[in-house]
Amino acid sequence: MSKISVIGAGAVGSATAYALLIQEVTNHVVLYDVATEKVEAEVLDLAHGTLYTGASRITGGSDIQETAGSDLVIITAGAKQKPGQSRLDLAGTNTAILQNLMPQLLNLSPEAIFILVTNPCDVLATVAQRLSGLPPARVFASGTVLDSARLRWLLAERLGVASASVHAYIIGEHGDSEFALWSQARVGPIPLADWRLADGSRLSAEDFEQIALEVKNAAYRVIQGKGATNYAIGLSAAKIASAILSDSNEILPVSSVLSGYHGISGIALSVPTIVNRSGAVRPLDLAMTAAEQAKLKNSADAITANLVSLGY
Ligand code: 2OP
Repeated sequence: MSKISVIGAGAVGSATAYALLIQEVTNHVVLYDVATEKVEAEVLDLAHGTLYTGASRITGGSDIQETAGSDLVIITAGAKQKPGQSRLDLAGTNTAILQNLMPQLLNLSPEAIFILVTNPCDVLATVAQRLSGLPPARVFASGTVLDSARLRWLLAERLGVASASVHAYIIGEHGDSEFALWSQARVGPIPLADWRLADGSRLSAEDFEQIALEVKNAAYRVIQGKGATNYAIGLSAAKIASAILSDSNEILPVSSVLSGYHGISGIALSVPTIVNRSGAVRPLDLAMTAAEQAKLKNSADAITANLVSLGY
Protein backbone atom coordinates (compact mmCIF):
# COMPACT_ATOMS: atom_id res chain seq x y z
CA MET A 1 0.00 0.00 0.00
CA SER A 2 1.54 3.26 -1.07
CA LYS A 3 0.49 6.66 -2.32
CA ILE A 4 2.19 8.77 -4.97
CA SER A 5 1.16 12.37 -5.60
CA VAL A 6 1.92 13.93 -8.96
CA ILE A 7 1.98 17.71 -8.79
CA GLY A 8 0.94 19.38 -12.04
CA ALA A 9 -1.58 17.96 -14.51
CA GLY A 10 0.05 19.24 -17.69
CA ALA A 11 1.47 17.01 -20.40
CA VAL A 12 4.28 15.72 -18.15
CA GLY A 13 2.21 15.23 -14.98
CA SER A 14 -0.56 13.42 -16.83
CA ALA A 15 1.91 11.16 -18.67
CA THR A 16 3.62 10.41 -15.35
CA ALA A 17 0.30 9.47 -13.74
CA TYR A 18 -0.52 7.28 -16.76
CA ALA A 19 2.87 5.51 -16.58
CA LEU A 20 2.46 4.94 -12.81
CA LEU A 21 -0.97 3.41 -13.40
CA ILE A 22 -0.17 1.12 -16.30
CA GLN A 23 3.02 -0.11 -14.62
CA GLU A 24 1.20 -0.61 -11.30
CA VAL A 25 3.97 1.19 -9.40
CA THR A 26 1.55 2.01 -6.57
CA ASN A 27 -2.06 1.34 -5.66
CA HIS A 28 -2.99 5.02 -5.32
CA VAL A 29 -1.99 7.90 -7.59
CA VAL A 30 -3.12 11.44 -6.74
CA LEU A 31 -2.98 14.11 -9.44
CA TYR A 32 -2.98 17.71 -8.19
CA ASP A 33 -3.09 21.01 -10.07
CA VAL A 34 -4.42 24.50 -9.39
CA ALA A 35 -6.35 24.41 -12.69
CA THR A 36 -9.51 22.68 -11.43
CA GLU A 37 -11.24 21.90 -14.70
CA LYS A 38 -8.10 20.56 -16.34
CA VAL A 39 -7.02 18.35 -13.44
CA GLU A 40 -10.51 16.98 -12.89
CA ALA A 41 -10.74 16.08 -16.57
CA GLU A 42 -7.33 14.35 -16.53
CA VAL A 43 -8.24 12.39 -13.38
CA LEU A 44 -11.54 11.33 -14.90
CA ASP A 45 -9.95 10.27 -18.18
CA LEU A 46 -7.31 8.22 -16.34
CA ALA A 47 -9.87 6.77 -13.89
CA HIS A 48 -12.00 5.56 -16.80
CA GLY A 49 -9.09 3.31 -17.81
CA THR A 50 -8.32 1.84 -14.39
CA LEU A 51 -10.38 -1.25 -15.18
CA TYR A 52 -7.34 -2.16 -17.26
CA THR A 53 -4.59 -1.06 -14.86
CA GLY A 54 -4.74 -3.69 -12.12
CA ALA A 55 -5.09 -2.55 -8.55
CA SER A 56 -4.11 1.08 -9.02
CA ARG A 57 -6.54 3.89 -8.30
CA ILE A 58 -6.39 7.55 -9.30
CA THR A 59 -7.97 10.50 -7.50
CA GLY A 60 -7.17 14.18 -7.37
CA GLY A 61 -8.19 17.72 -8.09
CA SER A 62 -7.24 21.25 -7.05
CA ASP A 63 -7.29 20.66 -3.29
CA ILE A 64 -3.69 20.17 -2.16
CA GLN A 65 -4.94 18.37 0.98
CA GLU A 66 -5.52 15.34 -1.23
CA THR A 67 -1.76 14.82 -1.38
CA ALA A 68 -1.54 14.32 2.41
CA GLY A 69 0.33 11.26 3.61
CA SER A 70 2.10 10.52 0.32
CA ASP A 71 5.06 8.18 0.24
CA LEU A 72 6.34 9.90 -2.86
CA VAL A 73 5.67 13.32 -4.36
CA ILE A 74 6.62 13.90 -7.99
CA ILE A 75 6.71 17.58 -8.90
CA THR A 76 6.06 18.43 -12.54
CA ALA A 77 4.29 21.80 -12.10
CA GLY A 78 5.64 24.88 -13.81
CA ALA A 79 6.25 26.65 -17.08
CA LYS A 80 7.56 24.53 -19.94
CA GLN A 81 10.12 25.40 -22.61
CA LYS A 82 8.90 27.20 -25.68
CA PRO A 83 10.70 26.29 -28.90
CA GLY A 84 14.21 27.79 -28.69
CA GLN A 85 14.15 28.32 -24.90
CA SER A 86 16.67 26.45 -22.76
CA ARG A 87 15.73 24.70 -19.54
CA LEU A 88 17.72 27.26 -17.54
CA ASP A 89 15.53 30.03 -19.01
CA LEU A 90 12.65 28.70 -16.88
CA ALA A 91 14.48 29.03 -13.56
CA GLY A 92 12.91 32.29 -12.30
CA THR A 93 9.29 31.34 -12.96
CA ASN A 94 9.57 27.78 -11.76
CA THR A 95 11.58 28.57 -8.64
CA ALA A 96 8.83 30.98 -7.57
CA ILE A 97 6.23 28.22 -8.05
CA LEU A 98 8.37 25.76 -6.06
CA GLN A 99 8.91 28.22 -3.21
CA ASN A 100 5.16 28.34 -2.78
CA LEU A 101 4.51 24.61 -3.22
CA MET A 102 7.33 22.91 -1.37
CA PRO A 103 6.48 24.00 2.22
CA GLN A 104 2.83 23.00 1.73
CA LEU A 105 3.70 19.62 0.23
CA LEU A 106 6.24 18.85 2.94
CA ASN A 107 3.79 19.86 5.65
CA LEU A 108 1.17 17.47 4.25
CA SER A 109 3.58 14.58 3.58
CA PRO A 110 6.38 14.92 6.13
CA GLU A 111 7.71 11.41 5.47
CA ALA A 112 7.69 11.60 1.67
CA ILE A 113 10.50 11.40 -0.84
CA PHE A 114 10.33 14.29 -3.33
CA ILE A 115 11.28 13.99 -7.01
CA LEU A 116 11.70 17.19 -9.02
CA VAL A 117 10.84 16.80 -12.68
CA THR A 118 10.06 20.47 -13.39
CA ASN A 119 12.91 22.21 -15.23
CA PRO A 120 15.57 23.28 -14.70
CA CYS A 121 15.38 20.20 -12.49
CA ASP A 122 18.92 20.40 -11.07
CA VAL A 123 18.39 24.00 -9.98
CA LEU A 124 14.96 23.18 -8.54
CA ALA A 125 16.25 20.11 -6.67
CA THR A 126 18.96 22.28 -5.11
CA VAL A 127 16.40 24.94 -4.13
CA ALA A 128 13.97 22.31 -2.78
CA GLN A 129 16.70 20.68 -0.70
CA ARG A 130 17.79 24.02 0.76
CA LEU A 131 14.19 25.16 1.42
CA SER A 132 13.16 21.92 3.07
CA GLY A 133 16.36 21.04 4.89
CA LEU A 134 15.69 17.40 3.97
CA PRO A 135 18.66 15.10 3.40
CA PRO A 136 19.71 15.13 -0.30
CA ALA A 137 18.67 11.46 -0.55
CA ARG A 138 15.03 12.48 0.05
CA VAL A 139 14.71 15.36 -2.39
CA PHE A 140 16.30 15.02 -5.79
CA ALA A 141 15.60 15.43 -9.50
CA SER A 142 14.90 13.00 -12.34
CA GLY A 143 18.08 14.50 -13.82
CA THR A 144 19.58 12.61 -16.73
CA VAL A 145 17.57 9.40 -16.32
CA LEU A 146 15.69 10.39 -19.48
CA ASP A 147 18.81 11.55 -21.35
CA SER A 148 20.52 8.25 -20.52
CA ALA A 149 17.48 6.37 -21.87
CA ARG A 150 17.77 8.44 -25.06
CA LEU A 151 21.47 7.59 -25.29
CA ARG A 152 20.89 3.88 -24.74
CA TRP A 153 18.11 3.81 -27.33
CA LEU A 154 20.28 5.55 -29.94
CA LEU A 155 23.22 3.22 -29.26
CA ALA A 156 20.97 0.16 -29.29
CA GLU A 157 19.59 1.14 -32.70
CA ARG A 158 23.08 1.76 -34.03
CA LEU A 159 24.69 -1.39 -32.61
CA GLY A 160 21.83 -3.82 -33.09
CA VAL A 161 21.52 -4.88 -29.44
CA ALA A 162 18.77 -4.42 -26.84
CA SER A 163 18.92 -1.06 -25.05
CA ALA A 164 18.88 -2.99 -21.75
CA SER A 165 22.30 -4.41 -22.77
CA VAL A 166 23.77 -0.94 -23.35
CA HIS A 167 25.28 0.38 -20.13
CA ALA A 168 25.94 4.03 -20.76
CA TYR A 169 25.17 7.25 -18.93
CA ILE A 170 24.60 10.91 -19.63
CA ILE A 171 25.65 12.82 -16.52
CA GLY A 172 25.93 16.42 -15.29
CA GLU A 173 23.19 18.99 -15.87
CA HIS A 174 19.87 17.85 -17.35
CA GLY A 175 20.41 20.50 -20.00
CA ASP A 176 22.85 21.97 -22.45
CA SER A 177 26.05 21.15 -20.52
CA GLU A 178 25.23 17.46 -20.05
CA PHE A 179 27.68 14.91 -21.46
CA ALA A 180 28.13 11.20 -22.12
CA LEU A 181 30.38 9.33 -19.72
CA TRP A 182 31.97 7.49 -22.62
CA SER A 183 34.94 6.20 -20.63
CA GLN A 184 32.62 3.92 -18.63
CA ALA A 185 30.23 2.88 -21.43
CA ARG A 186 29.82 -0.84 -22.12
CA VAL A 187 27.75 -3.08 -24.34
CA GLY A 188 27.19 -6.27 -22.38
CA PRO A 189 30.69 -6.91 -21.01
CA ILE A 190 32.50 -5.12 -23.87
CA PRO A 191 33.80 -1.54 -23.55
CA LEU A 192 31.83 0.53 -26.08
CA ALA A 193 35.01 1.78 -27.75
CA ASP A 194 35.95 -1.86 -28.55
CA TRP A 195 32.54 -2.86 -29.93
CA ARG A 196 32.66 -4.11 -33.52
CA LEU A 197 29.91 -2.98 -35.86
CA ALA A 198 28.50 -5.38 -38.48
CA ASP A 199 31.27 -4.40 -40.94
CA GLY A 200 33.99 -4.98 -38.35
CA SER A 201 34.69 -1.29 -37.74
CA ARG A 202 34.41 0.57 -34.43
CA LEU A 203 32.48 3.76 -33.67
CA SER A 204 34.60 6.75 -34.68
CA ALA A 205 35.27 9.91 -32.68
CA GLU A 206 32.75 11.68 -34.96
CA ASP A 207 30.17 8.96 -34.22
CA PHE A 208 30.57 9.50 -30.47
CA GLU A 209 30.28 13.26 -30.90
CA GLN A 210 27.24 12.95 -33.15
CA ILE A 211 25.38 10.57 -30.80
CA ALA A 212 26.00 12.80 -27.75
CA LEU A 213 24.82 15.82 -29.73
CA GLU A 214 21.66 14.02 -30.82
CA VAL A 215 20.86 13.21 -27.18
CA LYS A 216 21.47 16.81 -26.14
CA ASN A 217 19.20 18.13 -28.87
CA ALA A 218 16.52 15.45 -28.49
CA ALA A 219 14.16 17.51 -26.32
CA TYR A 220 14.50 20.58 -28.59
CA ARG A 221 13.55 18.44 -31.55
CA VAL A 222 10.47 16.98 -29.84
CA ILE A 223 9.41 20.38 -28.49
CA GLN A 224 9.73 21.86 -31.98
CA GLY A 225 7.41 19.20 -33.35
CA LYS A 226 4.77 18.79 -30.62
CA GLY A 227 5.27 21.61 -28.11
CA ALA A 228 6.48 19.45 -25.23
CA THR A 229 8.11 16.17 -24.31
CA ASN A 230 5.95 14.01 -22.08
CA TYR A 231 5.80 10.23 -22.63
CA ALA A 232 9.48 9.42 -22.13
CA ILE A 233 9.83 11.71 -19.10
CA GLY A 234 6.64 10.19 -17.63
CA LEU A 235 8.14 6.71 -18.03
CA SER A 236 11.44 7.90 -16.54
CA ALA A 237 9.68 9.33 -13.48
CA ALA A 238 7.72 6.09 -13.07
CA LYS A 239 10.99 4.13 -13.28
CA ILE A 240 12.50 6.17 -10.44
CA ALA A 241 9.29 5.81 -8.40
CA SER A 242 9.35 2.07 -8.90
CA ALA A 243 13.02 1.82 -7.83
CA ILE A 244 12.10 3.68 -4.63
CA LEU A 245 8.93 1.82 -3.69
CA SER A 246 10.29 -1.61 -4.56
CA ASP A 247 13.53 -0.83 -2.70
CA SER A 248 15.43 -2.12 -5.72
CA ASN A 249 18.87 -0.52 -5.22
CA GLU A 250 18.86 0.27 -8.92
CA ILE A 251 21.63 2.50 -10.27
CA LEU A 252 20.02 5.54 -11.92
CA PRO A 253 21.56 8.89 -12.91
CA VAL A 254 19.31 11.00 -10.70
CA SER A 255 20.32 14.49 -9.61
CA SER A 256 20.89 14.98 -5.88
CA VAL A 257 22.81 17.62 -3.96
CA LEU A 258 26.41 16.41 -3.98
CA SER A 259 28.93 16.59 -1.20
CA GLY A 260 32.59 16.50 -2.17
CA TYR A 261 31.91 14.62 -5.41
CA HIS A 262 34.91 15.19 -7.68
CA GLY A 263 35.26 18.53 -5.88
CA ILE A 264 31.57 19.50 -6.22
CA SER A 265 29.43 20.31 -3.17
CA GLY A 266 26.11 21.96 -2.41
CA ILE A 267 24.41 21.69 -5.82
CA ALA A 268 22.42 18.94 -7.50
CA LEU A 269 23.87 17.22 -10.57
CA SER A 270 23.22 13.80 -12.08
CA VAL A 271 25.66 10.98 -11.50
CA PRO A 272 24.98 7.23 -11.32
CA THR A 273 23.32 6.79 -7.92
CA ILE A 274 21.89 3.87 -5.94
CA VAL A 275 18.13 4.41 -5.50
CA ASN A 276 16.09 2.51 -2.93
CA ARG A 277 13.28 2.98 -0.37
CA SER A 278 15.38 5.64 1.38
CA GLY A 279 15.77 7.60 -1.88
CA ALA A 280 18.92 8.56 -3.78
CA VAL A 281 21.17 7.08 -1.15
CA ARG A 282 24.59 6.84 -2.77
CA PRO A 283 26.10 8.73 -5.69
CA LEU A 284 28.69 6.27 -6.98
CA ASP A 285 32.29 7.25 -6.83
CA LEU A 286 33.61 6.47 -10.28
CA ALA A 287 36.66 7.04 -12.38
CA MET A 288 36.49 9.82 -14.97
CA THR A 289 38.99 11.06 -17.50
CA ALA A 290 40.37 14.56 -16.99
CA ALA A 291 38.16 15.77 -19.86
CA GLU A 292 35.04 14.26 -18.23
CA GLN A 293 35.93 15.85 -14.91
CA ALA A 294 36.23 19.20 -16.66
CA LYS A 295 32.79 18.71 -18.23
CA LEU A 296 31.27 17.84 -14.85
CA LYS A 297 32.80 21.02 -13.41
CA ASN A 298 31.38 22.97 -16.37
CA SER A 299 27.89 21.60 -15.57
CA ALA A 300 28.35 22.51 -11.90
CA ASP A 301 29.36 26.04 -12.90
CA ALA A 302 26.25 26.40 -15.11
CA ILE A 303 23.95 25.34 -12.25
CA THR A 304 25.77 27.54 -9.74
CA ALA A 305 25.56 30.59 -12.02
CA ASN A 306 21.83 30.00 -12.45
CA LEU A 307 21.31 29.67 -8.69
CA VAL A 308 23.31 32.84 -8.05
CA SER A 309 21.16 34.73 -10.59
CA LEU A 310 18.13 33.64 -8.54
CA GLY A 311 19.68 34.92 -5.31
CA TYR A 312 20.69 31.46 -3.99
C1 2OP B 1 13.21 16.68 -21.73
O1 2OP B 1 14.43 16.48 -21.73
C2 2OP B 1 12.20 18.90 -21.74
O2 2OP B 1 13.54 18.24 -19.97
C3 2OP B 1 12.64 17.78 -20.89
O3 2OP B 1 12.45 16.02 -22.44
